Amino acid sequence: MTSGGIICVRTSPALYGVVQIEGAKNAVLVIMASLILTKGISILRRVPPSADVFQMIRMLEMLGARIVFDIPARTLSVDTTTISGDGILDPVIVRTFRASTLVMGPLLARFHRARVAFPGGDNIGLRPIDFHVRAFEQMGARIDIIDDEMHVHAERLQACCFVLEYPSVGATENVMMAAVLTPGKTIVINAALEPEVLDLINVLRAMGACISLSVPNSIVIEGVSVLHPVDYAVMYDRLEAGTFAIAAVVSGGAIEIPQAPAQHMEVFIEKVRQMGHNVRIGDGGTGIAVEATRTPRAVSFRTMPYPGFPTDLQALMMIAQIRAHGVSTIYETVHERRLSHVAQLMRCGADITVQGEMTAIVRGVLGIQGAEVVGGDLRAVAALVLAGLIAEGETIVRGIEHLVRGYVDFDVKLRALGAVVEYRGHVQANINNTITHNIPVPLVNIIGA
Ligand code: UD1
Repeated sequence: MTSGGIICVRTSPALYGVVQIEGAKNAVLVIMASLILTKGISILRRVPPSADVFQMIRMLEMLGARIVFDIPARTLSVDTTTISGDGILDPVIVRTFRASTLVMGPLLARFHRARVAFPGGDNIGLRPIDFHVRAFEQMGARIDIIDDEMHVHAERLQACCFVLEYPSVGATENVMMAAVLTPGKTIVINAALEPEVLDLINVLRAMGACISLSVPNSIVIEGVSVLHPVDYAVMYDRLEAGTFAIAAVVSGGAIEIPQAPAQHMEVFIEKVRQMGHNVRIGDGGTGIAVEATRTPRAVSFRTMPYPGFPTDLQALMMIAQIRAHGVSTIYETVHERRLSHVAQLMRCGADITVQGEMTAIVRGVLGIQGAEVVGGDLRAVAALVLAGLIAEGETIVRGIEHLVRGYVDFDVKLRALGAVVEYRGHVQANINNTITHNIPVPLVNIIGA
């Protein structure tokens, strides 16, 4: 996907107000893929109209699903009755986002075959899919690489005990989806237990799957013979919530995020508090209100699989360190190349040194200046936009095509809080009556157009 659009940000006042967030991008994509396991009409709620969701809609349609997306209601109806194992997935679409690999597990489970091009997605490291491939092979599947495509098939899948050498989110999800219809007991040892993985487990259980967790980090799946359609509300997006929490602290304001799943944001919230900011958590662990201190202290942190500090909030938390008092050391341990935003921040006058490929040392400065910058993945772009709020003058951020993959109406929401920000160029009026950029024109039936 290319974009002629840019994001213009000007020095903004402290942001104040309440912001509503969407359903979680990383949960909704895999949950949409999991519907392949069922035959009939499922309803998903809190589905964000983001670019990646439209890509997943296209993929499911290519497989034969019939889809209606009521965008104002954020409700997606997916009829999987006519899905077949012979649908051809357009490699161009598959390569545009990594979540496309997530159709492999359910296709294999329901049709015993899948044909998928090698995936794309954010440019944040090597991101191989060897764990997924090894797990499918261990379950008895054969994988042939033909013309840059993976052809996976299995006469019959067999339950197995699979050890993940690293708790990969995507591999855990794919193995679970392949195993739910496979007779016997499949065990994933050292599984990822991100909240989005648990949301998938909730959906699969609602379909009739038999899944349990075992201490310390294993998932046990007892295969069943059939799964049923569901009506399910996707969890709220902890990463979008974290983004607006950072917008509050960076700008020196106060923002309330009533739907923030605080119970899944513990380490992030702890780090924000260690900086001296005030974070109040709502009853039952839902909702946060963040109020910035005028004298933030620098904190160091290390990205880790959940419940550690999320890699997807690393770039954003780095912005909070730029003007903090002291020195922050940031270790990115999850993705290899996730510090590309550092060079961009240095163009704005931030004092950051990179050691090796995965460590950044940020020394607090009094201020930064606007510049023309480019973000290589969606969180980096969001982070650069927030940096623009405190930079003197105008900051031009490129990479809007990454941003719209996971954020809906980011500019609109920031403006409502007081930010001076706008998208320019290549603007297309969306069915949502908001302005978005370069979101592919949906092929689906739209309600509320
Ligand atoms: C998901 C999230 C992404 C998040 C990441 C880690 C979605 C759509 N995306 O990505 O936002 O940053 O989890 O929380 O849910 N790895 C291998 N071999 C594999 C699979 C992974 O070496 O077969 C490595 C990756 O290169 C990476 C690390 O494991 O360094 C973590 O990747 P993984 O947890 O699989 O991330 P994704 O599922 O791609």
